[in-house]
Amino acid sequence: MATRAEIVVALDIGTHRTAVLVAERVAGRPRIVGVGTAPSRGLRRGAVVNIDATVQSISNAVREAERMADCDIRAVLVSLGGSHVRSLDSVGMTPVRKREVGADDLERVHDAARAVALPEDREVIHILPQDYIVDGQAGIRDPQGMTGVRLEVRAHVLTASKGAAQNIVRCCNQAGLQVSQVVAAPVASARAVLTAEDRELGVVVIDIGGGTTALVAVRDNAIRRVSVLGLGGGHITSDIAAGLRVSSAEAERLKLRHGQALASAVRPDERVEVNGMSGQEPAMLSRQILAEIIEPRAEEILSLVRERLEETGLIGSVPAGVVLTGGTAALPGLVELAKTVFRLPVRFGEPHHIAGVGDVVSGPMWATTIGLLELAGEEAENFELLDSMPAGVVSRFRNRMGDWLREFF
Ligand SMILES: Nc1ncnc2c1ncn2[C@@H]1O[C@H](COP(=O)(O)OP(=O)(O)OP(=O)(O)O)[C@@H](O)[C@H]1O
Ligand SMILES: [Mg+2]
Repeated sequence: MATRAEIVVALDIGTHRTAVLVAERVAGRPRIVGVGTAPSRGLRRGAVVNIDATVQSISNAVREAERMADCDIRAVLVSLGGSHVRSLDSVGMTPVRKREVGADDLERVHDAARAVALPEDREVIHILPQDYIVDGQAGIRDPQGMTGVRLEVRAHVLTASKGAAQNIVRCCNQAGLQVSQVVAAPVASARAVLTAEDRELGVVVIDIGGGTTALVAVRDNAIRRVSVLGLGGGHITSDIAAGLRVSSAEAERLKLRHGQALASAVRPDERVEVNGMSGQEPAMLSRQILAEIIEPRAEEILSLVRERLEETGLIGSVPAGVVLTGGTAALPGLVELAKTVFRLPVRFGEPHHIAGVGDVVSGPMWATTIGLLELAGEEAENFELLDSMPAGVVSRFRNRMGDWLREFF
C-alpha cells in the first residue's frame, strides 16, 4: 500500500458524473493506481444544487477508487466547473526590491494583478500570467533573475462565484476529504488534451460535458480566455426524451448507442429499436429521425461557443483550430459538424495517456481528471502537500494556486 505522501488524488465533480483518479509517483511521474466513478445527482449546469446528493456521489466514487488503490484518500485536488466561471484581463506593477527580480517580486506583482474590482459574491481562483515586462521590455516569460527596477505582468484572471466554490469545498469536507487545490475544470481539460505545438500556435479547447460547455482559448503558451455555457450533452438527451416521448434513461441509451450529430451522415434506411415509446411495446425508428433531434441542439451549442469566441476577438488567431473534448465529444459526427460551424480545423481531443491502469481511463470524459493529475503530478511538492494542507475555503490557498498555475504549460 502506498503511503499517503506518495499519492495524489484528482476529483472531478461534473454534472453528469463524478470521477476520481489516484496516482502514485514513480520515478517522478504519476502512475494511476486507482479509479472510481459515480453518477452525479446534485449538480445543475456544473454547480452544486444539492449538497447531500453531491456528497453521496463523491463518497461513492472515492470509495471505489480507495478499494482499487488499497489506500485511504484524505485530500484531493478538485475541479470547479459551472457557467459562473469567467475570465478577464488584468495588469499588475511593482517596483523591483533588490534590482534583480526575485520570487518575492513575482508574488507582489501577482497580488497587484489579482486586485481586480469584483462584486461581493465573486472571487479570483487563478492568476494566469501571459507575459512579464521588465523596465518596459515586454514579452518575457520568466523574469526571475533579470535586472530592473520595475516589474509588470499582463495576466488573465479566472473568477468564480464564491458560493459555488465554497459549496464544492464543503461537499468534499462533508465526504471526509480535505481540499488541497481547487482548479477550474476547463483549465485542467485544456492541460490534458493539448500538444506543445497547439499551445504555441493558438488553439481553442471546447469541453462539452453533461451540463456545461467550456471554451479555453490558448495562444503563445498562455490561456487567453475561459468561458463556460450552461448547456451540454444532458440537453441533447432531454431533447431526445421529449422528441420521442421516452424516459431519460432510454434517451441516453439511444444517444450513446445510435447517436449521430450529422443527420446527413445517416443512411435513410437505418432503423433502431426504441423501448417504451409512449409506454408502448418496443418500436423501430429511423436513425435519421434520432440524428435530426440531436443535430440542432449540437449545432446550437457549437454556435453559442462560436459567438463567445468571436466576442473575444481570438477566432482569427487560432491556427491550430478547435479541439473537442469532454464526454459529448465522443458523439459521432460532432467533429464534422464543428468544422462547418467554426470553419477551422477541428479534431477530437483524447487526453494524454498516463501510465497505470490505463485502459479504464480513456476517452474524452477523462480530460478534466487527467488534467488535474498532470498539473499536480509534475511538482513533487503537490504530493507532499496532500498531508499538510488544512481544509478550508478557496481564498485560503489562493496565493499558492496563483503561483502554482504559473507553471501551467
Ligand atoms: N459516446 C457518446 N456519445 C454521445 N454522448 C456521450 C458519449 N459518451 C458520453 N457522452 C455524454 O457526455 C456527457 C458526460 O460528459 P462528461 O463526463 O465530460 O460530463 P461532466 O464532466 O459530468 O459534466 P460537466 O462538465 O458539464 O459538468 C453526458 O451527457 C453523456 O451522455
Ligand atoms: Mg466536465
